[in-house]
Parts: sequence; structure tokens; C-alpha cells
Amino acid sequence: MTRQLKLALRVYGVGGPGQHGLWKDPRLPKNASIDIDWYIAQAKTAEAAKFDALFIVDSQFIDATYPPHYLNRLEPLTLLSAVATHTEHIGLVGTLSSTYNSPFNLARRFASLDHISHGRAGWNVVTSLDAGTSKNYGLDEHLDYATRYGRALEHVRVVQGLWDSYEDDAFPADVERDVFLDPAKLHALDHEGEHFKVAGPLNLSRSPQGQPVIFQAGVSDEGRNLAAQVAEGIYAPGGSLSETQAYYADMKARTAAAGRNPDHVLIFLGAAPVLGGTDDAARSTARDIYEADNDFDRKLAAFGRAFSAYDFTQHDPDAPFPDVAARAERGSRTRGLDVVRRARAEGLTLRETVLAFSRFTPSPFTGAPPTVADAIESQFRERAFDGLNLGFRTPDDLQRFVADVVPILRDRGLVRREYDADTLRGNLGLPIPANRWTVQRELVDA
Ligand SMILES: Cc1cc2nc3c(=O)[nH]c(=O)nc-3n(C[C@H](O)[C@H](O)[C@H](O)COP(=O)(O)O)c2cc1C
Repeated sequence: MTRQLKLALRVYGVGGPGQHGLWKDPRLPKNASIDIDWYIAQAKTAEAAKFDALFIVDSQFIDATYPPHYLNRLEPLTLLSAVATHTEHIGLVGTLSSTYNSPFNLARRFASLDHISHGRAGWNVVTSLDAGTSKNYGLDEHLDYATRYGRALEHVRVVQGLWDSYEDDAFPADVERDVFLDPAKLHALDHEGEHFKVAGPLNLSRSPQGQPVIFQAGVSDEGRNLAAQVAEGIYAPGGSLSETQAYYADMKARTAAAGRNPDHVLIFLGAAPVLGGTDDAARSTARDIYEADNDFDRKLAAFGRAFSAYDFTQHDPDAPFPDVAARAERGSRTRGLDVVRRARAEGLTLRETVLAFSRFTPSPFTGAPPTVADAIESQFRERAFDGLNLGFRTPDDLQRFVADVVPILRDRGLVRREYDADTLRGNLGLPIPANRWTVQRELVDA
């Protein structure tokens, strides 16, 4: 089958990172981030354009400097359950942390969404970036990388085990024979591992797609290894074309090395297209968007996130970049060490470092619609990604992309005209995982 580009929509309501002023845009309702009707409308637009999924990112720690959407937003699975009842085909992917959820509770909630949506649920596994989250869950400190990712792998395995509690034909519901459940098709998990002890079974059967689709976001060596073992979709970091291609190749190679089929792991690149009547007009719009949020104090506040919510305002901005590398171990080590390495190598001050990491870098998908379509097509063919996780500033921008760019992609055979299936798995071309107990029985019987 020809390789087709996958499209997902990520929504940031009144403004995510780098969009602090977006809430003032008259086209956005001031309560967009907590208005379920607003989300449903975005999902319907994406569904009409045959997008694969709606993607909800999440975090559970804030202070007053966080972006507007983060300050006041809905819990992902509650949100997606409501969207599920107003849509029919689009996948529903929610971000939930393996660090701050128990596997049983998470398995039950995702399985519920999977039933409510008739097989369209996906779990984006994150280990949580915001160190301050720990204090909302009774822990003094966020976990270090080894523990965070060790727990994440075991967490996913337990959740998948619980999702297989019932074999597909466990409920004959045969009135004549007076048999509702076939008890031989119900299985406890009896898991005892380093991080979890979970008996099971889960009190919920499998959906039409067998199990929700597993996504993952996290780019460290530990994060990549987790993805290689369990992810079916990856939320990839951005960068230059050569960086995204290197990431793509690395993840496909790690997946193969883990004994899995690399075609069953789809890499979604985050992208924020900026469209204009001409390429120049789009570039000028991109520059205006950047300048509208180009505030040093705000950037300085956001800079602390990777370093366990570090308050950089306590330092002279014109002194050398402070020695905060150790704090990244319980924040984002990948980003944190990148920052520290560059500041040291180039002898940068705190101010210069913040500016170096927040300079104007327009999206590679900036231009008139044919230019944007060309860029998407060439990067897709050059294996920078299998799909795009698209973000737009306003519903108008999404509508414009759908009206002006998607038809070009469709005419080139890059995206679908109609949905291929009713489930997220079916539309992503991913196999239904066989129930492990059924497989075991068939092996014994053979
Ligand atoms: C593209 C991308 C998206 C992410 N989205 C989230 C998110 O929505 N919520 C969250 O708590 N963490 C998110 N993370 C953070 C990861 O879960 C991880 O904790 C963090 O990136 C540090 O690990 P790493 O060095 O392996 O990337 C994201 C990471 C990446 C790379």
C-alpha cells in the first residue's frame, strides 16, 4: 500500500507556549480552553477534513507565569469523552502521565474512552516534564530519569495486561443457556514488579480496536528506548530537516532492534503552519506573530521549566549562565543539558542564552498554500515524519489550512479522501493486538 501522510490536530485554546498574547485575538473566545463546544467544533472541522486524530497535551503544575491555556484547561479524558459523542471517525488521543497515575485507574479510564468512542482512543504516555507536579501527588521531588522511565515501561505493560483481562468472546450473553460470562475467558494479571503490584482483572472488555493506541513523547535516550518498545505513534520534537530525519531514522532503527515492525510505529512531527496569500505575506505574518510575544521577562520565566521550575530572575541576566545543570535531571534533561552545553561552549550570559534559544525560527511550513503543500510533501517523502501533529492559532487558521492546503495534498494522493476504518488503529494502518490469553490457548491447542 502507498504510504499515506497522517494528520493530527493539537489544540491549545487561548494559547500554549510562546502564545501568551493569543487570548486577546478577537476570533478566540476567552474561555476557549475550557469550553467543550469549542473543542467539539475543532474536532468536527478536523474530522470533515479526514484527520486521523485530535491530540490533547496536558500538564498538572502551574504558576502564574504559565501560558494562558495551561492556566485553565480541561482534564484530557473527560474532554475527549465528550468529543467522542459528537464525532464518529476521528481518533482521540489524550496525554496522561505514567508518573502520576496508577495503572489500574488509567487502564480503566482509557478503556472506557475506547468503548465510548467505539475504538478511537489513544494514550500519549509522558513521564511529566514539570517537576512541581510531584508536590501535587504527595512526593517531595519529581523522579529521576531512570526511575521515571523504568516506571513508565512497567506502567504501560501493566495497562496493556489489564486491557487483555477479557478475551474477545468472553461474554456469550446466551439467555437460552443462561450464560452471561464464560469465566474461562476472564483473566487476572497478578503482576508484581519493581514499581507496581496489580492483581486485576480489569472490569471492562476490549473495544473494536482491541486496545487503545499507544503514543509516546520524550526524546532522551531513555525516552527513545521506551518508545521503541511500546509506542505505535511518537510525538517527535522539531528541529532542522536533518535533525528530524536523524530522529526518524533513529526511532525506526531502535524499533527494529527491539524486534518490532518499524512500519507499525508512526512518527508525528509537531508543526504550526503559517499561511498567507503569498510566501512574502506569510513570512511577514510569521514575523508579526513572533514579535507580538517577544518579551524577555516572559521567556526568562518559561526558561525555568526544563530546570525543575527554576527561578532565573534571581540572577543578573548579564552575568554568565548559572550552574543549574543538575536541576535538569528532575526536569527535562535533554533540553536542559542542551542549553547548558551551548551556554558554556559559547561563553553566553543568561540573557544571551535565553535569546539564543528563542530567536525567530519560522515554521518550515510558512508560505502560500502550494508552498506549504510542497514543503509537507518533500519532508514526508524524505522521511522526516509519517504524520504531522498540527497546531493552529485560531479556528480560522485551521479552516484555512483545511480549505487551501488539504485539497492539494489530497489531489497528490498524500492524504485520504474518505476514512479507511471506524477505529483509530484502522485509520493509522496499525494491527489489532491479539489478546494474549487467546494466543496462548491457540498455541496450546495447536
Ligand atoms: C514532543 C513532546 C511532547 C511532550 N508533551 C508532554 C505533555 O503534554 N505533558 C507532559 O507532562 N510532558 C510532555 N512531554 C515531556 C516528556 O514526558 C518528558 O518528561 C520530558 O520531555 C523529559 O524527558 P525527555 O528528556 O525524555 O524528553 C513531551 C515531550 C516531547 C518531546
